[in-house]
Amino acid sequence: MNFVEAVGLTKTYTPKGAEPVHALDGLDLSVPRGTITAILGPNGAGKTTAVKVLTTLIVPDSGTATIGGIDVLRRPEAIRPIIGVSGQYAAVDENLTGFENLDMVGRLYHLGAKASRARAKELIDLFDLSEAQNRPVKGFSGGMRRRIDLAGALVTQPEVLFLDEPTTGLDPRSRLGMWDIIRSLVSQGSTVLLTTQYLEEADQLADDINVIDEGRVIARGTADELKASVGGQRVELNLVTPDDTVATVEVLRRYGTSEPAVSNDSRTVTVSVASGPEALQLVLRDLEQQNVALFDAGMRRPTLDDVFLRLTGHTTADAEAETVKEKAP
Ligand SMILES: Nc1ncnc2c1ncn2[C@@H]1O[C@H](COP(=O)(O)OP(=O)(O)O)[C@@H](O)[C@H]1O
Ligand SMILES: [Mg+2]
Repeated sequence: MNFVEAVGLTKTYTPKGAEPVHALDGLDLSVPRGTITAILGPNGAGKTTAVKVLTTLIVPDSGTATIGGIDVLRRPEAIRPIIGVSGQYAAVDENLTGFENLDMVGRLYHLGAKASRARAKELIDLFDLSEAQNRPVKGFSGGMRRRIDLAGALVTQPEVLFLDEPTTGLDPRSRLGMWDIIRSLVSQGSTVLLTTQYLEEADQLADDINVIDEGRVIARGTADELKASVGGQRVELNLVTPDDTVATVEVLRRYGTSEPAVSNDSRTVTVSVASGPEALQLVLRDLEQQNVALFDAGMRRPTLDDVFLRLTGHTTADAEAETVKEKAP
């Protein structure tokens, strides 16, 4: 059986004087033990709401959820000791040092003074925070903050870890560091449910990806399966002048496996291809023969946007705009 199982979760918010927002609209999820499962979706898709339901912070309007066979809605007090949560709403005290924060979590969970300190020290080492352990968190960099936050979620050695957008807003180097940490957790047997807006992140970390939109899973699979569904690699060309757009589209039609897509300003043209390097070479050769001038030419891996466009017919930006509109009075 799956370690985390959710069926048909719904949650509707009705802000005063505004249209109701269906934050969750029949969400199903399952997370096998010892794996990383990702919820991938744009801003407003319902990721945080799903995590909040599963971690007993809010109660859904309908649906069921179990963790390790325990009913999340009926027995929240039995769920809390076996889960760890790290995310935008996690409690880190700005005025305490890194060490004090972790020690405090241990005390809150009644680990006892000695065990709390020992666990705090262990996590400081594991997360490479020894330099920062005696400094107040308010002076921490973004990357260090995320690490202390994640460390806090691990104090009690939970059986399942919920990570809500663990790398959003981090610089590329801190992001890689975080990925390493998450990978090592799972190699030690942890079960992780992670939310993200980045297909690349889900690709790097997750065994199984659930793409969500408007509170519902709209696709499920491995990163390879999702990428394949949008036609694998793509070739992207940036033109010096929009006068060459028509000629460029014609060339891309010869080598693409999809109809070429043209940006609104007519300067960027992309197409799906079976093999990126091969197609790029042929495309560049043909364009040179036609004297088409390029600012840039390259291969691009599919992003959440590509998957989204394919599955929903709209971009993630549209989905976010839609959410904002729904929220407006
Ligand atoms: N407490 C709340 N009150 C009103 N609307 C909310 C509340 N929490 C979330 N929402 C709305 O529910 C939708 C899903 O939100 P959320 O789960 O935070 O999405 P995500 O984490 O994927 O960005 C959004 O439209 C959001 O504005
Ligand atoms: Mg969120």
